[in-house]
Amino acid sequence: MQSINLRKKFIIGNWKMHTTTADAARLAKAVVDGVGTEQQVVIAICPPFTYLALVGEILKGSYVSLGAQNLYPEKDGAFTGEISPTMLLDVGCRYVILGHSERRHILGESDAFINQKVLIALGASLNVILCVGETLDQRKTGQTETVLDRQLVQGLAGLSADNLPRLIVAYEPVWAIGSTGHHATPDQVQQAHTFIRRRFGDLFGEKAAQLLPIQYGGSVKPDNAAAFLSQPDVDGALLGGASLEADQFIAIVRAGISELKTEEKSTFPQSHNPNLERPQLNAP
Ligand code: PGA
Repeated sequence: MQSINLRKKFIIGNWKMHTTTADAARLAKAVVDGVGTEQQVVIAICPPFTYLALVGEILKGSYVSLGAQNLYPEKDGAFTGEISPTMLLDVGCRYVILGHSERRHILGESDAFINQKVLIALGASLNVILCVGETLDQRKTGQTETVLDRQLVQGLAGLSADNLPRLIVAYEPVWAIGSTGHHATPDQVQQAHTFIRRRFGDLFGEKAAQLLPIQYGGSVKPDNAAAFLSQPDVDGALLGGASLEADQFIAIVRAGISELKTEEKSTFPQSHNPNLERPQLNAP
């Protein structure tokens, strides 16, 4: 495998089922102010559906993109309670999180259903963050790689090469998400990311694998962000809890920037910026 890292860092906040109108507006404004003119890392926030339009207005003209937490895999139609990719694009979304473990395990989403969503979202030109990750039981019984393999192979079935530049994979071990009392170590995360990149390479080729951004998610906070982001195969963080506090979110964005600078210094002593290589996922 090549050693040159051509990947950007992606810091993305998943607000889950939190905030009110007032909280969402306040938080979005604080994030925009905190990010300022920062363009070195790709930044997005994913509020609940009800606040997408409001937050979208606040993000206009900023370097923070808008994302959604889910969609239904149809353009429109009689699907009571569901939201289509067209609707997400209409309110200014550029990203969508799919296959989050809370949707897999609480809402019972299958790999096949997630795959339909991935295909329709990419077909609609949304950038997709596909979440994969094992439960604690699966890890304890040595099934981590089998689970990641299944989620990748089935979740990405039928994907065309054209769509690969709009895909991010997020490794999110279910046992490390939220306040479970369990934390993944940077080594465990790097190992899982290496596996994901290798399997992705088997599926889509080595070049695509080297360009694939793989985020880590699971209790990433300002005090541990640098340890995760400095792993060679960790290309950003998908944040739950920390994205609900603007200060924490911004601190993690800053950790991403420092890490990028360190990598660039060690890999490219001159002025070449390797992160311009994948412009499709860049901010607004
Ligand atoms: P957490 O959530 O940062 O609160 O652990 C991560 C996620 O679910 O994406």
